Amino acid sequence: MKAIFGILTALLLTPSLASAQDAASQPAAPSAQQAASAEWWREAKFGMFIHWGLYAEPARGEWVMNSERIPIAEYKKLGANFNPVKFNAAEWVAVAKAAGMKYITITSKHHDGFALFDSAVSDFNLVDATPFKRDVIKELSEASAKEGIKFGVYYSHAQDWSHPGGSMAPRGYWDSAQIKGKEAFETYLRTISIPQLKEVIKIAKPSHIWFDTPIGMDAGYGREIVQAIRSVKPDTLLNSRLLYHGKQVEALKPDQLAELKDVGVDFLSYRDCTIPAETFPGWKWETCMTLNGAWGFNKRDQSWKSPTEVVMMLSHVASKGGNFLLNFGPTAEGEIPPAGVAVVKQVGDWLRVNGEAIYGTYASDLKKTGALESGPGVNADGSMKAAGGKRQAHATPKFDWLATARPAAPGGPAKIYLHVFKWPAGQLEVKGITGKVGKAYLLSNKSTPLMFSQKDGVFSVTLPKNAPDPVASVVCLEWASGN
Ligand code: GLC
Repeated sequence: MKAIFGILTALLLTPSLASAQDAASQPAAPSAQQAASAEWWREAKFGMFIHWGLYAEPARGEWVMNSERIPIAEYKKLGANFNPVKFNAAEWVAVAKAAGMKYITITSKHHDGFALFDSAVSDFNLVDATPFKRDVIKELSEASAKEGIKFGVYYSHAQDWSHPGGSMAPRGYWDSAQIKGKEAFETYLRTISIPQLKEVIKIAKPSHIWFDTPIGMDAGYGREIVQAIRSVKPDTLLNSRLLYHGKQVEALKPDQLAELKDVGVDFLSYRDCTIPAETFPGWKWETCMTLNGAWGFNKRDQSWKSPTEVVMMLSHVASKGGNFLLNFGPTAEGEIPPAGVAVVKQVGDWLRVNGEAIYGTYASDLKKTGALESGPGVNADGSMKAAGGKRQAHATPKFDWLATARPAAPGGPAKIYLHVFKWPAGQLEVKGITGKVGKAYLLSNKSTPLMFSQKDGVFSVTLPKNAPDPVASVVCLEWASGN
């Protein structure tokens, strides 16, 4: 009761609220600044997701507070022991860089309500509630800027188990301090969520904000949040989970998409651990994936994906024109698990040779990607089934090859990149290449042309006996001039 009274008083005393609500009724028109900031996103393709917070301490994943029904006061006690002395912002950014990742998205506050930044709105944060006392969002933002890595924050705007009113989820209540109902939710939104978003924007100057689990959200609340964010930093890119869960995205109707755009959402976040079958034309999109089977650190999970699996997923996403956000769950000491670092370092090595086939590319017209080896968790069309359980996240489709494209640019011809995972004996045959190819070569050996022919709609290229790269070798096809 005391808590509600406190919040209501704060609400009445907040002068900016009435104006925020007036502004919220106006559509958020995309500015020139926003359009310009969108370019980096398309170029980037590969990002580092980081799930980190107090939950790293029990080391049973980021949902531990909810799944084990831990009372708020009990959960908060974890703060006293949370002292990630091994945390080093430059080292984390170096891992992203070595992996060939171009941006970072970190949980500035997950559903447990614990913020990784210095918040005046709530003491439940790394600076005020732990012996560590450092603002890692600020440190990471600065370290990223130094290295030319874009820095964005995940913020759980509509699910918060520690602040009253923060969850309207059916399984969202197990502590009497978690006040139920719409009114409490609105109060939470306006006294915790929106003010903290403004704080984190000032601290992190994020290139993008990643919302999640929009329980109880609607377009009206969405507009209120967007206005608040854009009043501080207009070029912040925003994801669709402001209003829709990942699992809803594939089935969005044209009017829902139009509304999302009107509210000010910039990119679609598809269902967790899933590469969609089809995507919506005209929309930037991203899909996120675990590197093992968990988001937040789980000490029992050692099921790391292999470098080849990661590259195949990245190629798959790029072949459909999207971005791939790959997750790490650092430990309570502040360390990114070395086994995961080892995997992505190899991905980075691959990208250093073959990055031209990923960064800044477009979906390929060769819609029918290479012969597909389906398996459990894979739909007939090669899309991945929803990751209902942790195991399914590993059941990814395997392709013989995948394709990305690059349009002609001043001084450069249009190109198609064939990412070959299953090295054929002698010839690789591809149907559906309609233009005239002028040149073919391996990205790992650009100066040696490959022999090829084009007959009856079949492009056929002669390859060396052995695959130059055990992960995937990329054949680049350059359009002949006058195409
Ligand atoms: C889900 C989960 C969350 C995780 C997220 C990653 O929405 O609630 O724990 O952060 O997926 O996309």
